[in-house]
Amino acid sequence: MKVLVVYYTQSGNTEKIAKALFDGIESDDKKISPVKDVDFTKVNDYDLVFLGSPIITNGFAGIYNKILKGLPELTTRIVLFCTHAAPKKFGQFWETGFRKFGKKLEKKGANVLGYFDSQGEQTPQIKEMIKKMDAEYAAKARKASDGHPNEDDIAAAKKFASEIIKKVTV
Ligand SMILES: Cc1cc2nc3c(=O)[nH]c(=O)nc-3n(C[C@H](O)[C@H](O)[C@H](O)COP(=O)(O)O)c2cc1C
Repeated sequence: MKVLVVYYTQSGNTEKIAKALFDGIESDDKKISPVKDVDFTKVNDYDLVFLGSPIITNGFAGIYNKILKGLPELTTRIVLFCTHAAPKKFGQFWETGFRKFGKKLEKKGANVLGYFDSQGEQTPQIKEMIKKMDAEYAAKARKASDGHPNEDDIAAAKKFASEIIKKVTV
């Protein structure tokens, strides 16, 4: 099975998850690449594509929206992954945008097989921004995100990818 893992990252969190997913993929034809190096006109050549991004203002990074506009009709299977700094239970700050991007891909014809998210440490820019917010939320959010993705997050990503591959190859 031909599998591609694509990621965008600013401070390295999403790249860590991308590499963990890649490690969990059992295939002799797998490739991992930063989004800027991917030729999206050939995306349908893959049997399965993992697309990953940090959550930026409750959505996938802008670069993906640009790519989406120029994409042909999608006939491939896609798995989305993200890292987010907001605590997991505050889905209104990350999950709604994450799922919305999946819906956009489905409108383009893609078969979206699954979603994987990981807590990611706040980027330096977000640390500054959040300091100015509600102090109680800021402290909680900082505590929830520090040190992520951690070993458990990496292991969960690897397991998730391995299970997706098993599902697809059955
Ligand atoms: C401009 C900007 C906006 C962000 N907006 C959100 C957001 O809406 N929700 C969220 O949970 N995290 C947000 N984040 C935090 C990142 O998603 C998080 O730190 C992520 O793990 C960074 O991944 P990276 O190291 O791969 O860039 C934002 C980060 C930046 C820089």
